[in-house]
Amino acid sequence: MGKLISGFSKLSKLEKIDWLLNNHLINIPNAKSILRQYWNADKALQELHDEFIENTITNFYLPLGIAPNFSINNKMYTIPMAIEESSVVAAASKAAKFWSTKGGFKAEVIGTVKIGQIHFTFSGPGLELKTFIEKIKPKLISNAAPLTKNMKQRGGGILAVELIDKTDALQNYFQLQLSFDTKDAMGANFINSCLESFAATLKEKAKEYVPFKSKDYDIDIIMSILSNYVPECRVRASVKCPISELGINGIKGMDFAKKFVQAVQIAKLEPYRAVTHNKGIMNGVDAVVIATGNDFRAVEAGVHAYASRNGKYTSLSEAKIENNQFHFWLELPLALGTVGGLTNLHPLVKLSHQILGNPSAEELMQIVAVAGLAQNFAALKSLTTTGIQQGHMKMHLMNILNQFKASEKEKENLINHFKNNTVSYSAVEEMLKKYRA
Ligand code: MEV
Repeated sequence: MGKLISGFSKLSKLEKIDWLLNNHLINIPNAKSILRQYWNADKALQELHDEFIENTITNFYLPLGIAPNFSINNKMYTIPMAIEESSVVAAASKAAKFWSTKGGFKAEVIGTVKIGQIHFTFSGPGLELKTFIEKIKPKLISNAAPLTKNMKQRGGGILAVELIDKTDALQNYFQLQLSFDTKDAMGANFINSCLESFAATLKEKAKEYVPFKSKDYDIDIIMSILSNYVPECRVRASVKCPISELGINGIKGMDFAKKFVQAVQIAKLEPYRAVTHNKGIMNGVDAVVIATGNDFRAVEAGVHAYASRNGKYTSLSEAKIENNQFHFWLELPLALGTVGGLTNLHPLVKLSHQILGNPSAEELMQIVAVAGLAQNFAALKSLTTTGIQQGHMKMHLMNILNQFKASEKEKENLINHFKNNTVSYSAVEEMLKKYRA
């Protein structure tokens, strides 16, 4: 076990690196140069990145790729995607092209309401608490006015305040649940600030409230925090086309559609499959969420909770054949922002927004949902026809070649060779050996 260190965050970046080298990277002589290799030569840009978090020692790169040819509600998009998994951008691009000639993707925002909660205990009866909350509601709202003023001007703010009695589940437990519209901001800071203001007023007013004082009733605030579960901030993405247009590589349209629908049905009823199925959707979702500077952990948590909303984890997407048409769609809860946070700070994030035509948060919700649907389509198309490994290993070949430090010429030759041969780590190693000999 390593030694405890105190005051670490106050050390300079170089001191932190020295401490790391001396304590955890003793036998790695080039560790320092690896860390420094990823520093940006532009000092100001590096400082900007250093200050995103605490104890920054270097930058961690992810490739930023683009998937062109996305037709969404009859508008063309090129979608930026930040992701390390080799086949994701290629799959998105393929799906985009495929659907671009079949009416493209359609998307619509179903709602934009987000929730925040003050969790507290109250030692008296719920009815008396209700009377008290109704009485102080104007004060709760007016005390938060300095926080909500700007958001209100942008058309958002606090939509509703509701007292929820949870004493059946936990002794004395109540919630003050606030609904918000945060317009183009993801809104986490706004929501949390409003909640903390409400909690402070609640506490203060309860202390002064004579009926409570006389009966010794007490309000104790446990915590105030937004919820990352946003089923009312939800978007739908869909595609449809005549079955006859679905014929792929010699497979008849109806055969393809039937198998595809069965694959979705399996993900609907079998949680082991549903998790992988939804992971494929999140390949597309997360990549765009990261590229646009949004919080992918929040999105992940909310989406998977939504996938279990009926008490059993299930597929996020659905498919059917109706009147000789193939339909494929999904709905996702997505709390995204196009202003505030990293969107104003990270130069690549800003560029990603520009690539997308500086969308509003609602438009970004649609783009992200479409990226998820496209990814799911590409995965199921491969899985139910050629299998996934063909495409995956082609992309993986480059990673293997890079591990062996293959030259450009070697790469060219081996990529050619593996066009007609099965890729595996050992097959690549063997071919390279042969080639080098
Ligand atoms: C791999 O990252 C994603 C897939 O496993 C998704 C799926 O199985 O549907 C291919």
